Amino acid sequence: MKNIAAVILAAGRGTRMKSNTPKVLHEVQSRPLLSFILEALDAAGVGKKILVLGYKDKNVKSAFPGVETVIQDKLFGSGDAVKCAKNLLSSFKGDILVLYGDTPFVRASTIKKLIEKHKSEKASCTLLSSVMPEPAGYGRILRDADENIIKIIEDTDASIYEKIINEINVGCYCFNREHLFSSLDRLKMNAKKKEYYLTDIVGALRKSGRKVVSVLSKDPAEALGINSKLDLARANDIARKRALELLMLKGVTVVDPGSTFVDKDAKIGRDTVIHPHTIIEGSVTIGKNCRIGPFARIRKNTLIDNNVEIGNFVELVRTKVSSGTKIKHMTYLGDAELGKNVNVGAGTITANYDGKNKNKTIIEDGSFIGVGSIFVAPVRVGRGAVVGAGSVVTKGKDVPAGKTVAGIPAKILNRGRKR
Ligand code: UD1
Ligand code: CA
Repeated sequence: MKNIAAVILAAGRGTRMKSNTPKVLHEVQSRPLLSFILEALDAAGVGKKILVLGYKDKNVKSAFPGVETVIQDKLFGSGDAVKCAKNLLSSFKGDILVLYGDTPFVRASTIKKLIEKHKSEKASCTLLSSVMPEPAGYGRILRDADENIIKIIEDTDASIYEKIINEINVGCYCFNREHLFSSLDRLKMNAKKKEYYLTDIVGALRKSGRKVVSVLSKDPAEALGINSKLDLARANDIARKRALELLMLKGVTVVDPGSTFVDKDAKIGRDTVIHPHTIIEGSVTIGKNCRIGPFARIRKNTLIDNNVEIGNFVELVRTKVSSGTKIKHMTYLGDAELGKNVNVGAGTITANYDGKNKNKTIIEDGSFIGVGSIFVAPVRVGRGAVVGAGSVVTKGKDVPAGKTVAGIPAKILNRGRKR
C-alpha cells in the first residue's frame, strides 16, 4: 500500500504498569507488545511506518532495528506524539494511519477495512470504535441523534452521563494528512492532564465541518489497550486461547486448554496430544502423533519429529529430537541432538553451558541412556551405544557406536551392547 504511512505511538512511560521496563517491551506470548501492531501493519501491506519513541527509546529501538523512529522529547500526550512525526512526513502525500503501540490485537483485516472506508467516504478522519461491556478508562465516542460522531471524550473528562456510553475509541485512525497536521497545530492542552490529546482532533474536525466516520470492531479483544499488569495478563490469556484454538482446529489434541500454554509461533502436527500443565515457548516445531506432557516445558528453537514421547518434568531447549525417541521423566536437554528411537532414562541432564559457551550433546540413533546420566558437552554418543545408570560422560570423551560405558567419569566396558 503506497499511499498510506503509519505513525505508531510508543513513547509513553506506561506509568500504570508500575515497571522499569517500557510498556511496549512487556511480553505477550514471549513477544514484545509492540511487535503485534507492527506485524498487523505488515500483514495489511503498510510499508511506511514511523515509531514515536520517548521513554527508554534506545531499549525500544534496539528491539526493533530497521523500523524508522522519531523521538518525542517531552511526553506531552498523544497529540504531541503524532506531531513529532510531521517532519518525516513532509514530502509524503498519502493518508496517515495513527495507531497505539499498546493495542496488540488490532487485526490486519480491520486496518484494511479502515483504509477502504476512509477512501470510499473521502473522510477527513476514519476511526475504529468498539462496544465494550466495561468501558472505564477508554475515550468514549459521542454521537448526535443521527448517529454522526460529535467528538471523543476521555474517561477522566467524562460526565456521569458520558461515562455510561460503551462505544469506545480503540486508538486506530486514518487521517487526511493536511487536515491532521493543521488540526494538531491548533490543539489546546488539556488542563487536567497537561497533555495534548490526539482525540480532541475529532471534535475539532467536526466543528470545522469535516467528515469523521467510523468502523466498528465487533470483537472487544481487538480493542484491548494494555495499561496495567492486569491488562497484560488478559492479553496473554486471549493470545493463549487463540493459539490453542487454532491448533485444535488443525487436529492437535489439547487435553486441558485451561492449563496449557503454547505460543503463537509453535507448529504442532495432527494427533499429537498435549497433556495438562505443558508450556511450549517461542519457535517450536512438533511433528505428528507425539505425546507431550503432563508438566513438560519445551523452549525456543526445539524441533521434535513424529512419534516422539516427552513426559513429565522434561525441559528441552534448542534441541532436536528425531522420530520414535522417548524422553519420559525429569530430564533437561539443552543444545542436544537426538537420533531416532533413542531411550532417555529418567533424570538425564546435559551440562550444556561451561560458563562461556553453550555446547552440543549428540546422541545417535538407537542409543540407550540409563537413568541419572549426565553429559558434559560437547560430547557425542554413537549409534546403538549404552550409557549405564548414573554415568557422567565427560567432555570430548565420545562414546563409540555400539559400546557400553558406565561410571564417573564414564569408561568403556569391555563387552559391547547385548540385545
Ligand atoms: C488512549 C486514548 C483513548 C483510547 C485508548 C485506547 C488519547 C488521549 N486517549 O488512552 O481515547 O480509548 O487510548 O487504548 O489518545 N503516547 C506517546 N506519547 C505521549 C503519550 C502517549 O507516545 O506523550 C503513546 C503511549 O505510549 C501509548 C499511546 O500513546 O502507546 C496511548 O497512550 P495512553 O497513555 O496509553 O492512552 P490511554 O489513556 O490508554
Ligand atoms: Ca493505553
